[in-house]
Amino acid sequence: MQRKHYLLVMLACMTLPLHSQRLQQQLDKDWDFRFSHQVERGSSIRIAIPHTWNTQDALSGKIDYKRGIGNYERKLYIDPQWQGKRLFLRFEGVNSVADVFLNGKCLGEHRGGYSAFVFEITDRVNYGQTNTLLVRVSNAERLDVMPLVGDFNMYGGIYRDVHLIVTDPTCISLTDYASPGVYLTTKQIGKDRAEVAATVRISNQTDAREIILRAEVKDQNHIVCSEERQIELKAYEELSTNLLLNIRNPHLWNGRKDPFLYQTEFTLWAGGQLLDKVVQPLGLRTYRVDPEKGFILNGESLKLRGVCRHQDRAEIGNALLDEHHEEDVQIMLEMGANAVRLAHYQQAETMYDLTDKHGLITWAEIPFVGPGGYLDKGFVDLPEFRENGKEQLKELIRQNYNHPSICFWGLFNELKESGDNPTAYVEELNQLAHSEDSVRPTTAASNQNGQLNFITDCIAWNRYDGWYGGDPNQLAKFLDRTHRDHPELCIGISEYGAGASIYHQQDTLKQTVPVSYWHPENWQTYYHMANWKILNERPFVWGSFIWNLFDFGAAHRHEGDRNGINDKGLVTFDRKNKKDAFYFYKANWNPEPMLHLTGKRNHRSTTGKRDIMAFTNRKEVELLVNGQSIGKAIPDTYATVIWKNVALQPGKNEIQVRTTDRGKTLTDHAEIYVEKTKLTTEKLQKK
Ligand code: GCU
Repeated sequence: MQRKHYLLVMLACMTLPLHSQRLQQQLDKDWDFRFSHQVERGSSIRIAIPHTWNTQDALSGKIDYKRGIGNYERKLYIDPQWQGKRLFLRFEGVNSVADVFLNGKCLGEHRGGYSAFVFEITDRVNYGQTNTLLVRVSNAERLDVMPLVGDFNMYGGIYRDVHLIVTDPTCISLTDYASPGVYLTTKQIGKDRAEVAATVRISNQTDAREIILRAEVKDQNHIVCSEERQIELKAYEELSTNLLLNIRNPHLWNGRKDPFLYQTEFTLWAGGQLLDKVVQPLGLRTYRVDPEKGFILNGESLKLRGVCRHQDRAEIGNALLDEHHEEDVQIMLEMGANAVRLAHYQQAETMYDLTDKHGLITWAEIPFVGPGGYLDKGFVDLPEFRENGKEQLKELIRQNYNHPSICFWGLFNELKESGDNPTAYVEELNQLAHSEDSVRPTTAASNQNGQLNFITDCIAWNRYDGWYGGDPNQLAKFLDRTHRDHPELCIGISEYGAGASIYHQQDTLKQTVPVSYWHPENWQTYYHMANWKILNERPFVWGSFIWNLFDFGAAHRHEGDRNGINDKGLVTFDRKNKKDAFYFYKANWNPEPMLHLTGKRNHRSTTGKRDIMAFTNRKEVELLVNGQSIGKAIPDTYATVIWKNVALQPGKNEIQVRTTDRGKTLTDHAEIYVEKTKLTTEKLQKK
């Protein structure tokens, strides 16, 4: 054996213990990348996955960022001991079309940039040799892949993990739209007993054999229920089989209050030997949406206080590591959100694991996105496009079927009925979602009147009252009118938001022009305070989702403090700064003691007077200016205290807010400089 091969085998053995059944090797390193126009030998660069080629151009607001073809190539040594096993390549996400070649031969194409896909390579590899894997990735615009448009960047690349998976010839299927091969459906939940139907897809690529399928439901390491079935598999058969799991004294998955998860383990056995194992989460919950009472989880009303999340972030675009998803979820939890709309496309598996784990009610969706306020269209009536949308919907549902946090399948965002009218197609998607999943309701994000609003089980609207013109009261009017005219509709707010730069500070509260460069932070704060009150006062609104928790990349946007950013986030693109509006929600949604002084970045004053505002969920708060108490105040029902026209001295001012509750003191402070211009000093002296 050549030394290089020997080392590779050693490495493979370290990551793939040969005695275990399903082996998984992450193919993250040693990829060579080149664009398709770079045909000269040696033009590749060495990269690691996750990767996108658009971090420089798209993120700096280059409107025509590179949308073309990138080639990723790497060597793949195939252990001779794997002969007789089955080998698969699983891609977690490649944006947006991937053509995969092994040893120069095409394995197939996957269209859609957000879902996982799998190719079986058992008969396509050279065992005991180094094989060559090439993935030709395109993020070029095309009409046969959703989305056609969107207010976000279409970063090209293999931006999620890739795995080589080795199984026994008889395994739980990996190729059913890249699902886990196991589908758990809660049939009923009583006080003493819950009934869960499990459908398991088994794939046999060998002679007829007798196997045992065993299912176990575990609470930590304790088995709470197990079932076994003997199955006579025919040669080269694919089949689905059902098991009924009865769980005594069910412990419910109850959102953020108690996101309790069972683990389910499905194993295949032959002659006492373990052939394959798949582990899936199980959360037992019931829920429904009521047009009057809103969202009801396990029999109790739960107002969904949600945020929307795009997956990208500063510097790395969409090429995220697990720690980035974790950080995002921690920020949601800190704010006190109990729901999330993972917009506008299927997000990473890790994300849905985290929403399960932390009890965040989740809206998952396909990237069927209309143009919103921009030109172009989100739907073209071409068979290829229609087919692709259905495929992406099947992938979304099958891959994520077992996540208890997912309570809604989202079917579209801001489509228009003019031109190619998507109405009939959305009806088809709605039927498909129901045939794939008979339990979960469908929903959509609308921005206009029309038939489209009456197809899905629930409907929600994207509203920007007080940002794209208008004022927040229009939201109240819209909601009340729609509820009155259509009392049967389950109405939600899928988006509401306003842009803000942490660098844009003003003393006055002036509404700005969204497409301008001036995006003052205090307008965003005011916008959210006014909109949230309206939403909170209307129990029929089943959920509302802030657009957006994070600033995100939108190369075509030339506004705010930087090109290429949609700055409606409550947190900056790099996750380093939380804007004041974030703390308004934190004070209202998270019961942990908090106190936040707003306007801290507004360091300078020319008037010598300032309205000072703080958010707190404590009973009373005191303001001190330059060490002197200005008085104590009781927050209003929205956790807000405002001291009007507080006089400041020329030069530096030390502002402090302070609250003491049950012996614990919280403080927050800022420095404000009043310019010592003649005018200011004179003005102040006159007072
Ligand atoms: C739309 C759309 C979002 C977009 C947002 C905005 O309603 O759904 O994708 O980013 O509005 O204008 O910020």
